[in-house]
Amino acid sequence: MCGITGIVTLDSDNIGELLVKCSRKLTYRGYDSVGVAAVREGKVDLRKDVGTVDEVDRLLGLSKMRGDRGIAQLRWATYGAPTKVNAQPHFGCDEVFYGAHNGNIHNYVEYKQELIDAGHKVRSENDGELCVHAVDKYYEQTGDMLEAVRLSTQDLKGAFAYTVGRADQAEIYAVKMGSSLVAGVADGATIVSSDLPSVLPLTSNVIYLADGEMLVLTHDKVRVYRVEDGKKLERPPQRSTVDVHAAEKGGYPHFMLKEINEQPQIAKDVMGVLAGADNEEWLKMIEDSSRLYLVACGSSHNAGILGTYYFNRLAGMPVYHAIGGQFEPMYGNTLDDESLCILVSQSGETKDILNVLNHVRDANLGKTLGVVNVIGSTLMFQADSYIPMACGYEVSVPATKTYFSQTVIFSYLAAKLGERNGHLDRSEAKTFIRSLKDDLPKLAQATIDRTGILTKNLARTLVNVKDLYCLGYGFTDGVAREGALKIKEICYNHCEGMYSSEFKHGPLSIVTRDYPVIFVTTTEDSWMVTNHINEVRARGGRTIIVGEREDRLEPYVDAEGDYLSVPVSNVLLNPLLDVIPLQMLSYFFSVDLGVNPDLPRNLSKTLTVD
Ligand code: F6R
Repeated sequence: MCGITGIVTLDSDNIGELLVKCSRKLTYRGYDSVGVAAVREGKVDLRKDVGTVDEVDRLLGLSKMRGDRGIAQLRWATYGAPTKVNAQPHFGCDEVFYGAHNGNIHNYVEYKQELIDAGHKVRSENDGELCVHAVDKYYEQTGDMLEAVRLSTQDLKGAFAYTVGRADQAEIYAVKMGSSLVAGVADGATIVSSDLPSVLPLTSNVIYLADGEMLVLTHDKVRVYRVEDGKKLERPPQRSTVDVHAAEKGGYPHFMLKEINEQPQIAKDVMGVLAGADNEEWLKMIEDSSRLYLVACGSSHNAGILGTYYFNRLAGMPVYHAIGGQFEPMYGNTLDDESLCILVSQSGETKDILNVLNHVRDANLGKTLGVVNVIGSTLMFQADSYIPMACGYEVSVPATKTYFSQTVIFSYLAAKLGERNGHLDRSEAKTFIRSLKDDLPKLAQATIDRTGILTKNLARTLVNVKDLYCLGYGFTDGVAREGALKIKEICYNHCEGMYSSEFKHGPLSIVTRDYPVIFVTTTEDSWMVTNHINEVRARGGRTIIVGEREDRLEPYVDAEGDYLSVPVSNVLLNPLLDVIPLQMLSYFFSVDLGVNPDLPRNLSKTLTVD
């Protein structure tokens, strides 16, 4: 989704530099186009174009712009193609109002027409422009910016946040109506932004906001008001403990590689969280539920698939898993007072997941437990309880360490629940939990060390491959889907992830000589997977194996590099480790193809749209 940043500062020399520096941290939210509106001596200087922050900065000198207040926007295109005219910020009817939004205005078509009929000069096909015109319209009627922002929310339908200003006023205004927004108060400057990483370069004094709240920024303070009745709210800044350097590459060529390499530490950190005091609350919520749903999108959903296997195996508990948008049509009428929806979202802002949260709350049926990485996100605040993924910021668009953390969380919860409900032998549960705590960090590191060079070499042999499959069986179902998602996401290839026993029910027809199929397995499933491997080999296909080294699998690899072997471990750790070579393979594959894996085309890290 898009990212907005607004800053008011005492120092009129460096607004462009500040806006570029801070909004660069939102690059993961959108990189189709970038714009900055800076106000100096009552005049708005608006520069925008297609490209990333750095590209547009080079082209238009954004960081040299001067003024004491301004707004920047990074766009991920939804309404309107990624063109200069659709880039944000936008002006209102003339060059007095300027503003930018994040989110979607659902009544775009009707409202645009209404504004045009009322004489507004709407220039673009982008819904963000309507936010500026809505404020323009109500300012005409009230002569009061805050009231105009408040009234604009009656016209604008959808989930969004925007920030807006007037050339002749020193303040910047913002409103949060379903999309993320956070503010900060520094020495001599204030900031409002779509996400914390862009606030932190300026200050750690942070103000978290709820939906239906408006802000007024002056250089020394941020005032918060309620949209409903315009009432002023007390909201002193809190000190954020998030590390400002978390969003830096730390010597790695890409965030993705850095984040893959952080996984051994994540294993330790998330196990630390799970051993904490809140653990009892989460376990009780699950135990007390009549039915358990696990809802997530993309990589988080793939982690949820693996979680479903762990819950069955270790706790004997059925889990209904669904992707976010599927939940309501598939399970919406099956909720009851005691059902529990586990909502899994790295960003905590994914609209498909917040829709489920709202559905559960509106129906007043059951509870929600978030599994969330971004502290201060909507899911974190609005779920009945939440489990933090403890990953720090994940900057690269492809999820790696957060998927890994989610899978550790599910395996741990399942083992604890199994121990408590007697499904799992006590000593078996303890051994598994001990292996998560003591062995997993070392094994994850050993996997990275061992498969780094192998995946690099293997990737080189795949550069001309445009089409492949990644198959898993049993516990590695979700792992294979995740590997395939990584490859298609950052290599722009067709790579389908599916259940290996399903392959013969149709897709097998694609296999011809040297057609590549990746098989992901645990040691307990490899006896079955060899059947599926044989079906591919018999048609001349090339098989690549991910799993522990096993004699029975050796005959099926033609080259050393086609066997991405993970270290020997408790079999229940196999699926946690197997994803690592797939992440690395997709990374090297992407780099070999000349793609920047951190910023794959057409995507955005936080999807706050339907
Ligand atoms: C893939 C990826 C996406 C996200 C999905 C859900 O690498 O990152 O598929 O997993 O958009 O995002 P969250 O977890 O933030 O809800």
